[in-house]
Amino acid sequence: MRLARIGAVTTRRIGAHPRARVRVGAIAPSGAHDAHDAHERAPMRRRKHQHQQHKIVAPSPWIGLERWRALAIDDRRRWGALDGAREPNDAVEGDVNVMREMGERAASEASCVASAARHIVATADPRAKAAMSHGVYKALLRGELEIVREGWDGAREMPAKPARPAEPKLVPPKEVPSPKTSPLGRVAHVMHNLAHIELNAIDLAWDTIGRYASLRGALPDQFFIDFAHVADDESRHLLWCLQRLDELGVRYGDMVAHDVLWEGAEATANDPLARLAVVPCMQEARGLDAGPRLAERLVGFGDPRSAAIVRRISDEEVGHVAVGATWFRTVCAALDDKTLDEAAREVVAAKTFRAYIEKLAPDALRGPFNVDDRARAGIDPLWYASDDITTSVKVEKHVWDADPEIMDALRRRLSTVVAVEEASASQTSSSNA
Ligand SMILES: [Fe+2]
Ligand SMILES: [Fe+2]
Repeated sequence: MRLARIGAVTTRRIGAHPRARVRVGAIAPSGAHDAHDAHERAPMRRRKHQHQQHKIVAPSPWIGLERWRALAIDDRRRWGALDGAREPNDAVEGDVNVMREMGERAASEASCVASAARHIVATADPRAKAAMSHGVYKALLRGELEIVREGWDGAREMPAKPARPAEPKLVPPKEVPSPKTSPLGRVAHVMHNLAHIELNAIDLAWDTIGRYASLRGALPDQFFIDFAHVADDESRHLLWCLQRLDELGVRYGDMVAHDVLWEGAEATANDPLARLAVVPCMQEARGLDAGPRLAERLVGFGDPRSAAIVRRISDEEVGHVAVGATWFRTVCAALDDKTLDEAAREVVAAKTFRAYIEKLAPDALRGPFNVDDRARAGIDPLWYASDDITTSVKVEKHVWDADPEIMDALRRRLSTVVAVEEASASQTSSSNA
């Protein structure tokens, strides 16, 4: 596939997926952006307007990134055990043990993290998917699994679609009921949608690992460790949602769901930069926009327990957006003109992000935006809310595709960037010692 120009930015023609333009979705349950919150949008709009003249001087990455990377493995899989609201009983303990064994087996049977990723994406059962994600992430951190074995070809090895249970039935988004018309009731409706989103999020993270593992070396190991960490977080989120559904007397699958999030993966299958733009920096950032309002709504529905789960998930999602933005910047920097200063590189990253999203999901550039949480994740309104990116920087880049020459050139350039970053990190640590 050849390169095509989008405005001032050169990028691969990704529109091969016919529906990708308007339907790569957002990690936000239905009802989170509906007409009911029109009154809540006004303050957000005002804030967006305030930021329109914003001029960025330098990127502001998430301050918690290193802390998040250093977090100990979170083995608590039950919401009750986290907040002390429920004591684990024997049945729950038994369930936890089964899941632990499932996770350990997935890790011990995998030849590398990439092959484990393929196995997880090809596993239909949501609880098994969650258990395997946790087990593989733990094995990776313990140094028991190599990232990828020799000869791995992610595009050939990874399934085109994740395996799914027989239910929920996947339907077009318009056929998914609203909270008002939901057969499950309003609270269970929200938690069911969220469970579906978290299930997709697990697959999206593992697909990113498995599909782009061929770039290991050009992409440092930390890239794969970060996305395995994201997958592990998502597995915990899924289990909290499934647990809450159980408590509400509802089963995952009792209501239809849509497949829009996976369309984002398909539209970006051959372009890691597009994947980073669409999945963590757009879909997950939309989740940040929706999360706090959704939690408030659940409180309004009289369910503080579900609200607390949503609030916690939303808070943890900040790290996922931050990881996406960090790697998006890194890859952009590898492709940039090396004479650019830090502020100019940030403008290039913002423009490149805008070019991808305008091409693949222009609807996602409409608010309301949770400017504060997006800023916590290191994404400036320049990326998504400013119509006025004034800069003298000319964005002229080649984003790689399946062309081996471009891939090789990219590998070399990324390797150089990574080596420079490692050298400067070791200098900093030795000067701090
Ligand atoms: Fe999540
Ligand atoms: Fe996430």
